[in-house]
Amino acid sequence: MMAERTARHGEMVRQATLEAQSGMGVQSDLPPGEALFKQYCTVCHRITERLVGPPVTEMIEVYADDFNGFKQWVRKPGRKRMDYPAMTGFPQLTDEELKDLGNYIFEQ
Ligand code: HEC
Repeated sequence: MMAERTARHGEMVRQATLEAQSGMGVQSDLPPGEALFKQYCTVCHRITERLVGPPVTEMIEVYADDFNGFKQWVRKPGRKRMDYPAMTGFPQLTDEELKDLGNYIFEQ
């Protein structure tokens, strides 16, 4: 009886862990840039629609020829559009991750 309950608990923990991981974008079937975008950016950005932040199409207009500017913004955003809230920065992203992210974003 106890053993059975313990086993069931273990199974529940395993399931919850799996769900949390997939919710955090640890899906290995996506290209790395798309996985990062889903993990960090889709909460606020869509490809063509305004959400919390401007659409990806607008990022392309601003940064298509300025990858360094893009990197700087994502790590430490400034303040531009007064009809939007401020963006939170992602200083923890590595050069490699930002490159993957840029590859995905500028392909849209
Ligand atoms: C919590 C919401 C939120 C998240 C998450 C978020 N952004 Fe933003 N983003 C914003 C807002 C709001 C603005 C507009 C800020 C402004 O113009 O002052 C913005 C603006 C931008 C811009 C335009 C900057 C410019 O100079 O015009 C880029 C590029 C951008 N975000 C990239 C990203 C990327 C890449 C991610 C994921 C790593 C991300 N954002 C995650 C809210 C967010």
